[in-house]
Amino acid sequence: MLQGKRIILGVSGGIAVYKAVELLRLLTKAGANVDVVMSKNACEFVTPLTFQSLSGNPVHTDLFSLHQEQEIDHISLADRADLFILAPATANLVGKIVQGLADDLLTTSVMATKAPVLIAPAMNCNMYENPIYQRNQKDLQALGYHVLEPTTGSLACGWEGAGKLPAPEVIFAAAQAVLTPKDLLGCKVMVTAGPTREEIDPVRYITNYSSGKMGYAIATAAQQRGAEVTLIAGATNLPVPFGVNYVPVSSAAQMRAAVLEGYEATDIVIKAAAVADYRLAQRAEQKLKKSAEQMTLELEKNPDILAELGQTKNKQILVGFAAETENLLANAGDKLKRKNLDLIVANDVTAPGAGFDVDTNIVRFLHADGQVEELEQMTKAQVAEQLLDRVKELR
Ligand code: CTP
Repeated sequence: MLQGKRIILGVSGGIAVYKAVELLRLLTKAGANVDVVMSKNACEFVTPLTFQSLSGNPVHTDLFSLHQEQEIDHISLADRADLFILAPATANLVGKIVQGLADDLLTTSVMATKAPVLIAPAMNCNMYENPIYQRNQKDLQALGYHVLEPTTGSLACGWEGAGKLPAPEVIFAAAQAVLTPKDLLGCKVMVTAGPTREEIDPVRYITNYSSGKMGYAIATAAQQRGAEVTLIAGATNLPVPFGVNYVPVSSAAQMRAAVLEGYEATDIVIKAAAVADYRLAQRAEQKLKKSAEQMTLELEKNPDILAELGQTKNKQILVGFAAETENLLANAGDKLKRKNLDLIVANDVTAPGAGFDVDTNIVRFLHADGQVEELEQMTKAQVAEQLLDRVKELR
């Protein structure tokens, strides 16, 4: 999404400037060409050299530097940009922009750009709550500027409250979202992801190798394409994607309850979760002690959530996943029919570059009309985009 995009990263003064360094790293790693414009105060916190080394481009700081103007005309720089990010944006910077003031290079460039502007504010919590700042933020939003909410926590000034710069990953995802065409606007998408845990006793459980990466990639992509996304996920180590309604669950029974609750109001259900097929017939109340040489656990079948959805579906589009180790097409095709799905994503989890806990996947899409599409090895983010393209066509 950001590959080859021209981004201006505007940095104003505040302790959170160090996070802008990490954001720059994420942007360049994604293939964006980033020009950094720093306010005078920002240079007090981190040197321009740091941003220059990471961006590979000269850093712009001074409106009246003849040398900088000869090297790069800041007006045409602002004009060529695909996206302008302000992170961190101080209350002062937001105030100036809303007033139409352009008294330094940063504010002049913001005013001169026709690109979308994404603002990530950071300030003391009292300043953030000040009605003047709040009015300024609302005015900017009404003018079409994208303003992120700061996060809450302990601030560098020693106070506790709202005003922290959002994590670099959050700003990065928001940047992707701003540049993504909103072709799923108005669509309600439910994604399940990750493994379920079936408890044996208070300290042990049965689970599987699912990392949740595929489902999280789908939820992220759908949100960026404008869908209203609910992500129902078992335990994973992944950060919650920006802007999704996150419902954490543990067991298959909890996942089933959460899925059924939201099903009626959902347009598209994508079940990437690896649901445990069996649970303990009797979960022990206390920790099981070691005694006999052998031990047998009695399991009983979990309800098949997806099959249940297939039986009651009306307007919904249902997408399942089939992680197989043999007879890929036959097994996946059988699940497609048995669960009354519109599409199933089949993958051989034993193939190198596919399966659990890797960032790539090799999948086939099996359609209800019998069509089978074989996709090359690609990242899970790319699989997610391809899958959403097919789902969009089905709608
Ligand atoms: N699934 C589900 N509820 C279950 C089991 C599976 O909703 N109790 C969903 C999964 O989320 C996935 C699809 O059904 O989208 C296929 O899951 P899979 O485990 O591959 O299939 P099973 O039907 O459980 O068959 P088997 O384990 O025999 O391969």
